[in-house]
Amino acid sequence: MDLTFIQNYYSRMSSSPSLSTSDFIPYLNAFLAIVAVYLIYRTVFPQTNPNGQVLNAQKQAKQNPKPIVFTKFTPATLQPFNGVVEERVLMAVKGKVYDVSAGRSFYGPDGPYSNFAGRDASRGLAKGSFEEDMLTPIDEPIDTLEDLSADEIQALDDWERHFAGKYLLCGELVEGL
Ligand code: HEM
Repeated sequence: MDLTFIQNYYSRMSSSPSLSTSDFIPYLNAFLAIVAVYLIYRTVFPQTNPNGQVLNAQKQAKQNPKPIVFTKFTPATLQPFNGVVEERVLMAVKGKVYDVSAGRSFYGPDGPYSNFAGRDASRGLAKGSFEEDMLTPIDEPIDTLEDLSADEIQALDDWERHFAGKYLLCGELVEGL
């Protein structure tokens, strides 16, 4: 077998001047300098819309319209936070109230779980049911959940972990005065 071609190829490759990593350093430095200048410029002069509002601040304001203060809610004061009366969507799980506004597609008026918005969702989550009788009427005492089975308690605890990990805890559910 004639290996001359392969031998010539390798000898040419090894004799040609090859680029080393250090040849790229000036280009890399120039690139990083441009990025740094741009970032400093954007910090001093943030992007604005035609009305002069800072774009990032607008985005934040949309996600989080009002500051949240840890509050005591009764079933009646929680109910308006259903995404319709109040834009913010809150939901109670095992006595804790979470701001689930970020999951508006789930709990907002057109969402599949809108029944839980502004309500104590504990029983429905424990039993995996959207039935109306899962929701305690707002003028009745808070559901004690005493009759739940071990499996239902387990399911509810799993949901509690899900909510605690995903949403902001913003209050507790207490009996009405
Ligand atoms: C036909 C049965 C069901 C289907 C196909 C379904 C589907 C889904 C899907 C696709 C998600 C989104 C998961 C994610 O992206 O994180 C979800 C989340 C959820 N589902 Fe269901 N689901 C069903 C039944 C139920 C039931 C029976 C309940 C409770 C009563 C329930 C309560 C929830 C809740 C609370 C969330 C979490 C939303 C959040 O993270 O805020 N689902 N479901």
